[in-house]
Amino acid sequence: MSKAVLVFTALVLSSLLGLSGVGAEDPYLFFEWNVSYGTISPLGVPMRAILINGQFPGPNINCSSNNNIVINVFNNLEEPFLFSWNGIQQRKNSWQDGTAGTNCPIQPGKNYTYHYQVKDQIGSFYYFPSLGMHKAVGGYGGLRINSRLLIPVPFDPPADDYTVLIGDWYNKDHKVLSRTLDMGRSIGQPAGVIINGKSGKDAAGNNDAPMFVMEAGKVYRYRICNTGMKVSVNFRIQRHLMKLVEMDGSHTMQNIYDSIDVHVAQCYSFLVTADQAPGDYYLVASSRFLRKELTATAIVRYAGSSTPPSSTLPKAPAGWAWSFNQWRSFRWNLTASAARPNPQGSYHYGSINITRTIKLVSTTANVDGKTRYAFNGVSHVDTETPLKLVEYYGINEQFFKYNIMADEPPAGKPPVTVSTNVISIEFRTFVEIIFENPEKNVQSYHLNGYSFFAVG
Ligand SMILES: *[C@@H]1O[C@H](CO)[C@@H](O)[C@H](O)[C@H]1NC(C)=O
Ligand SMILES: *[C@@H]1O[C@H](CO)[C@@H](O)[C@H](O)[C@H]1NC(C)=O
Ligand SMILES: *[C@@H]1O[C@H](CO)[C@@H](O)[C@H](O)[C@H]1NC(C)=O
Ligand SMILES: *[C@@H]1O[C@H](CO)[C@@H](O)[C@H](O)[C@H]1NC(C)=O
Ligand SMILES: *[C@@H]1O[C@H](CO)[C@@H](O)[C@H](O)[C@H]1NC(C)=O
Repeated sequence: MSKAVLVFTALVLSSLLGLSGVGAEDPYLFFEWNVSYGTISPLGVPMRAILINGQFPGPNINCSSNNNIVINVFNNLEEPFLFSWNGIQQRKNSWQDGTAGTNCPIQPGKNYTYHYQVKDQIGSFYYFPSLGMHKAVGGYGGLRINSRLLIPVPFDPPADDYTVLIGDWYNKDHKVLSRTLDMGRSIGQPAGVIINGKSGKDAAGNNDAPMFVMEAGKVYRYRICNTGMKVSVNFRIQRHLMKLVEMDGSHTMQNIYDSIDVHVAQCYSFLVTADQAPGDYYLVASSRFLRKELTATAIVRYAGSSTPPSSTLPKAPAGWAWSFNQWRSFRWNLTASAARPNPQGSYHYGSINITRTIKLVSTTANVDGKTRYAFNGVSHVDTETPLKLVEYYGINEQFFKYNIMADEPPAGKPPVTVSTNVISIEFRTFVEIIFENPEKNVQSYHLNGYSFFAVG
């Protein structure tokens, strides 16, 4: 279901554990963020949301590979808070990744300064709050890593670069959602879908002002992330085709799509050519795999035009198979940007020998009245002191045992164990991880702080 309620920590031993500093020679970007509650009405219903410097979505982080990012976060909520930088590979700073397994939460009324260096995952990401159900009420924003000069990107610079954060929205306070799970119930269906914090219409049904502008004939990059809790969202632009160029920090083969399914936490970059008659066009985001389709719109306007958009929205695809088949069409462009050796030191990705296969089967169970999600029969609980700190100080024996979960699911249906669940993996192991979800809800998995490419 949602990665906010399902925590799985894979710790790569040895290489990631050093607390070395960041390179002094690379440029620094400084941010000061004030995290506070505020009232917003994305679906017309006023509710308490988490804002950053008064904004929802939060500010975009626009950086280039090797930049040092310094973000001083002031927590003005009445509860602990943490930001996660969603998979940004922090070779030297993995203990800063902002999950309860790596960082101490920022206490209410206190501040904490994140300090990390982005490397060569050139592409599109987003940051989000990682504790409780905070993510369901905001606190997220876009994060882009540009290629530093000298490292070519496999397309010409676009005329502009737009961040489009889409996802489900519940119209419920995050504490209400937490209590629902703690009473053994599901958070239920979302109230709607939003695009950059908006549904696209006001209470009278009139369109919001255009969100983006394109000049006829030019090419634009759209970075689309599903920042929601659990619902897959199909994204499309009226009368425009989308050329896929990047997903989650990897450049891809440049296939053309008329719509794309974006599952929770995924990000894609598309190039869109403004090749239609000047006018306004709808961007459409609609829920997938729900009984009732929920739709949000936004408008992209051709500069200087005043032709309203056609009220006929392009339809979403139907069924599961479409989504699987689309996924199978995605291919990594392994020659783009820079050749990188695989973990065994070779440049031939296709010939890496898999040294370990971990099969993770997810289940949901009611344990002591609470809804718990489990892998291979184990539902993770955080240690009071973050795992990375416990390991750094060599006191892990007092807190948890490694590898209590097997690489294979248990036979039969034994009861779910609630425990700190840490897999240790040796340096340079090339691991194949297979996820299996026998249940009725879509599951999404957050492989935190490492670079992955889904292969099937
Ligand atoms: C942060 O925002 C809150 C609520 O808007 C405000 O009361 C507080 O003064 C702000 N703090 C800083 C450091 O800007
Ligand atoms: C983002 O950074 C790139 C590279 O430094 C720069 O060219 C671009 O103008 C920046 N975009 C925004 C919106 O700040
Ligand atoms: C908190 O903010 C102050 C003022 O900007 C700064 O000097 C201090 O280093 C910050 N503390 C932490 C723990 O980041
Ligand atoms: C893959 O990347 C290389 C190197 O940048 C580029 O020349 C090539 O056109 C790209 N291939 C596709 C299909 O995009
Ligand atoms: C993979 O295993 C085969 C057979 O054992 C071996 O010949 C080959 O060198 C290995 N490849 C790598 C990259 O280690």
